[in-house]
Amino acid sequence: MTQSHAKQPAVKQAVLITGASSGIGLSLAKHYVANGYLVFACGRNEARLNTITGAVALAFDINDKQQIQQAAQTLSEKLVAANAKLQQVILNAGSCEYIENPMRFDGALFERVIQTNVIAMGYCLEHFLPLVDTNGRVALMSSSATYLPFPKAEAYGASKAAVNYLASSLRLDLKAFGIGVSVICPGFVKTPLTDKNDFAMPMQITADEAANTIFNELKTGKNEIHFPKRFTYILKCLSCLPSALINKMLAPKVS
Ligand SMILES: NC(=O)c1ccc[n+]([C@@H]2O[C@H](COP(=O)([O-])OP(=O)(O)OC[C@H]3O[C@@H](n4cnc5c(N)ncnc54)[C@H](OP(=O)(O)O)[C@@H]3O)[C@@H](O)[C@H]2O)c1
Repeated sequence: MTQSHAKQPAVKQAVLITGASSGIGLSLAKHYVANGYLVFACGRNEARLNTITGAVALAFDINDKQQIQQAAQTLSEKLVAANAKLQQVILNAGSCEYIENPMRFDGALFERVIQTNVIAMGYCLEHFLPLVDTNGRVALMSSSATYLPFPKAEAYGASKAAVNYLASSLRLDLKAFGIGVSVICPGFVKTPLTDKNDFAMPMQITADEAANTIFNELKTGKNEIHFPKRFTYILKCLSCLPSALINKMLAPKVS
């Protein structure tokens, strides 16, 4: 009896990255392409996504459920066509707006930030999680801002604290399915998002440095990825102080 020894084509590893048109997501997309992954680069700005050589652009608004559903359908077809497995989903897209006047609390701003940073993550999980391969990994973008309360960060900090809990709970529930969950808590990274800040940003790193750390630590299956370590360990230590002391240190002085 003759046996066929025809070589099966190798299965490609794929990654989906939201917020890939700018900043950390853009650097991540380039990093994954350089490391041989089939990269699905997502964002609203298709023209900017198309500049990422070697990546597949998937343009959609994470706040639009229908657009996400359509993107997931396209993704599923492209994975089959490319004989690829979706190894990682990095939900990185997000926005940051500050509450400038606490006595005129901007409820619409609060809603916008929670919508984009948390609720939209739920929409993305609904449609992309079923496509993740067993032994795959989902990474949710949070922030080291969650280690301490910061002035004006009521909306941004609350949204990222919700992401932390979402990640911890999802990690428990996805264990049985063989899918890992990482939460990413960067310090200050130089991107268009932080270029708008008018305050000091100690130990700021580049988006390429951030992408390098995220890539390496996701590969090893780290649950909590935080960097730069010197900065994040200082925040973690300070978070152990009594809240009255934290308040004294961080509350803006009344002029
Ligand atoms: N930079 C930092 O220091 C820092 C620190 C901690 C955490 N983070 C987090 O890291 C993530 C990336 O931030 P970044 O600094 O790289 O910011 P960025 O350069 O402003 O990039 C934000 C990305 O999110 C996408 N995005 C925003 N709203 C979207 C929407 N409704 N639909 C689809 N895509 C949307 C944008 O794409 P389009 O404009 O094309 O839609 C863009 O690609 C955010 O979640 C941020 O909170 C950043």
